[in-house]
Amino acid sequence: MDKGTVGIVGSGTMGRGIAQVAAAAGYDVILNDISEDLVCRAVDRLHTDLSRLVDKGKMEDAAKGQLLSRIRTSTVLRDMAEADIIIEAIFEDLESKKQLFARLDEVCEEDVVLGSNSSSLSILDMAMATRRPENVVGIHFFNPVPLMKGVELVCTIMTSFKTLESARQFCVSLGKQTWVAKDAPGFLSTRLLIPYLLDAMRLLENGFATKEDIDACCVLSFNYPMGPLTLSDLIGLDVLLNIANSMYESFKDPRFVAPILLEKKVRALHLGRKTGKGFYDYS
Ligand SMILES: NC(=O)c1ccc[n+]([C@@H]2O[C@H](COP(=O)([O-])OP(=O)(O)OC[C@H]3O[C@@H](n4cnc5c(N)ncnc54)[C@H](O)[C@@H]3O)[C@@H](O)[C@H]2O)c1
Repeated sequence: MDKGTVGIVGSGTMGRGIAQVAAAAGYDVILNDISEDLVCRAVDRLHTDLSRLVDKGKMEDAAKGQLLSRIRTSTVLRDMAEADIIIEAIFEDLESKKQLFARLDEVCEEDVVLGSNSSSLSILDMAMATRRPENVVGIHFFNPVPLMKGVELVCTIMTSFKTLESARQFCVSLGKQTWVAKDAPGFLSTRLLIPYLLDAMRLLENGFATKEDIDACCVLSFNYPMGPLTLSDLIGLDVLLNIANSMYESFKDPRFVAPILLEKKVRALHLGRKTGKGFYDYS
């Protein structure tokens, strides 16, 4: 079964997850990062994650071996010349992403699909760093990649129909479902999510309800898997504050104004699960 080759640049949380689902679907994967140490660490993490699935009886040991054998590591961007589709999953920094796309443009085949996993940055700016902006599309996976069913495809005014369709077919071949969003700050997912989370914080701040009741309302009446304040703690309150501020900067829409309560929690380093305390105490 020759499904083709997927190049992934950035072997962190998201790159590693995308490598796992692509290899599981039968693609050959080239996983690239800036150092040997980082790509080795990513593969070690994959070993650990997959061994856990084997221990739980959710994966055969042979399937684990097969999956890992399809992932090749790389620290040289030129290796991406072999890929049919490339997904950039480096830090959320526009200048770094633009530089990377310009370099990919120099080394990649003409027909390659150039995808970015950015959660909020301008895909058009990345596309215009190349000589083929029509090949560039947002392919926004969610964390944890193996578990989340959806992928947001982000279409710029330059993205060709062929590129969008190839990206969609790729995601479907991974067992994911997709929707299309326009290239604007926060795309569709973050634009919908942030006002919901900030509203929950405002209700808490105004003393309208307790955190437990706000969360219970959303879980029990909307069938959401967790409430907005639990979810905020999971995402990280510093991350949310940055996103809210940058979306307010873009839209000047009061729905994106960060509540003072959120700012205070971040100043106190109550950042959520990662620091042991956010809206809830995890210590
Ligand atoms: N973490 C999430 O929950 C999440 C969810 C959706 C989307 N995203 C987006 O996915 C992207 C990656 O996020 P992450 O959480 O995996 O980040 P991460 O910090 O875990 O990993 C980023 C990796 O990119 C590598 N890198 C940086 N510059 C590089 C370069 N020039 N060439 C090769 N590798 C390079 C880093 O060494 C690091 O290993 C970001 O754009 C982020 O916004 C993250």
